Amino acid sequence: MRVAQSISMSISMEAERVQAIASLSAAADDIPPEFVRPEHEQPGFTTYRGQAPEIPVVDLAGEADQGELVSRVAAAAREWGIFQVVNHGIPAEVVRDLQRVGKAFFELPQEEKEKYAAKPGSTEGYGTKLQKDLEGKKAWVDFLFHNIWPPAMINYAFWPKIPRDYRKANEEYGKYLRILSNKILIMLSKGLGLEDHVLMQSVGGQNLEYLLKINYYPPCPRPDLALGVVAHTDMSAITILVPNDVPGLQIFKDDHWFDAKHIPNAIIVHVGDQIEILSNGYYKSVLHRTTVNKEKARMSWPVFCSPPPEMEIGPLPQLVSDETLAKYKTKMYKDYAYCKLNKLPQ
Ligand code: OGA
Ligand code: NI
Repeated sequence: MRVAQSISMSISMEAERVQAIASLSAAADDIPPEFVRPEHEQPGFTTYRGQAPEIPVVDLAGEADQGELVSRVAAAAREWGIFQVVNHGIPAEVVRDLQRVGKAFFELPQEEKEKYAAKPGSTEGYGTKLQKDLEGKKAWVDFLFHNIWPPAMINYAFWPKIPRDYRKANEEYGKYLRILSNKILIMLSKGLGLEDHVLMQSVGGQNLEYLLKINYYPPCPRPDLALGVVAHTDMSAITILVPNDVPGLQIFKDDHWFDAKHIPNAIIVHVGDQIEILSNGYYKSVLHRTTVNKEKARMSWPVFCSPPPEMEIGPLPQLVSDETLAKYKTKMYKDYAYCKLNKLPQ
């Protein structure tokens, strides 16, 4: 029997968390066949090895001129759909605490983590994508999802009680994060020639929803064959992400997949589908995926900032005219999400 088959069989008895599969795989130095991506997706084949361009950096304290800052953000959102922010205003210790408590959660015994297991059909909770994708393949990642804002959306049942300061660390991060997301939406509005508040208002204003995901990518014996998160654009308005120090984010640009070089302490901002739609395609949501590491666990903390489900999203009327037609349908965010999650046309 092939090693990979015996790994599959020995795990079939337990909940199939990738973390557990990873321990067995490390011993066998092989991965189960359902984690081997088809060749056209394998990082070993498809990662660009030439000189990779670097994703744009925006320094919130660096530009004396606000107009210059806005044009940098707008150019990055238009040409890349992703940028890194330095001097973003979130204190380093606040980010470190967020990372520390998240890591501590994933290092808890399995039965403790299972107390937060996501129920079928609900977004929040600890889990692993159970169904295979269209090609019958799985992703090398476990995750924890929970809302962090607005208060009416928070269900503390999904916030780990261990470590004890998990809640405090997440609340603290959330406070600074909301200030940053507001600044970014203001700059993106100005970049479209619109008033400050237009984009924030169009994605829900006070009701904008902040959903935290913690990705835990265990060490993987075959990082050349597997993917953490497969190629996608985020369906959010924007996503604000901090990674740990293990590289893995890849961006698709100019027909190539290349590694995104992360500047230590920088915050990564992804333009999501809803901002692409509101801007009528002026800004682009970025196609991205993640690779995994042979020796180290990679972790990341994206916060998806998304409109409330009933909010209608479509190209802003200010950007549409007889010459510039709407390139996207206007629909409720929940309908957009339904089509995206079920891989239906929009
Ligand atoms: C995601 C994602 C990127 C990362 O979870 O949507 O794209 O760096 N994660 O982990
Ligand atoms: Ni993503």
